[in-house]
Amino acid sequence: MQPNSGNPIGVFDSGVGGLTVVRALMERLPFENIVYFGDTARVPYGVKSVETIAHYTTQIAEFLLGKQVKLLIVACNTMAAVASQVVQDLSPVPVLDVIDAGAVGAVAATRSRRVGVIGTPTTINSNAYARAIHQYQPEIRIFSQPCPLFVPLVEEGWLEHQVTRLTAQEYLRPVLAEQIDTLVLGCTHYPLLKPLLQDVAGPGVALVDSAEAMAERTAALLAEMGLANPRRTPPEYHFHVTDVPLRFQTIGERFLGRSLANVHVEKW
Ligand code: DGL
Repeated sequence: MQPNSGNPIGVFDSGVGGLTVVRALMERLPFENIVYFGDTARVPYGVKSVETIAHYTTQIAEFLLGKQVKLLIVACNTMAAVASQVVQDLSPVPVLDVIDAGAVGAVAATRSRRVGVIGTPTTINSNAYARAIHQYQPEIRIFSQPCPLFVPLVEEGWLEHQVTRLTAQEYLRPVLAEQIDTLVLGCTHYPLLKPLLQDVAGPGVALVDSAEAMAERTAALLAEMGLANPRRTPPEYHFHVTDVPLRFQTIGERFLGRSLANVHVEKW
């Protein structure tokens, strides 16, 4: 059965990081209702086992399907890397994930066919980006680098801090040495480091922001399936989280780029 076009888009992540995707969606699709789920009590996922991530992912997808979403967006790169199939298998509505969107963005951006990918250790170890990129263009060479310290640095708000710059120089050195011309920001948190990463990578490297790529994919899919909301009234946004940690509001608003209202705490 075709979902109702007025129903919300469901977006989920391991924590607040996925709000970078929500922000890109709000800008690209200003009339769509959105329900967000962030598992703030159990974040970070990027260092957890595949079984645990798959189990948590199932719980969250089922929760959002209960909210009658017309489309599910896996905003978390880590969940998309190891549990995308789990969501596809259980969902009666279309599912989009950031890895596929980032792969399409990388293929479009590269000229030299040398692409760097950065993400959490679980995302990088899964090889999911390489698989997704090779589906579109098998000749592209991929150079990956896990960057586990970026998530806590972003959560700390050290977006331009000297410590973050040194960390970025250290992490990016091996991939930049491979003469890449494109770098995929394969984690929800990294779009917030874009100016610093662009500075470290230099002007010859195009950064693929998976949040923006995701918003483009969503717009295309909604149009293709006739699922775009025809109503031109202000949309509703709801944010469900499993905990409200200290500084949640500040961090959340930084990710979202606007004030955060309608926050509901789910006690799981
Ligand atoms: N949301 C995760 C991702 O995009 C980063 C945070 C985490 O490790 O849970 O990979």
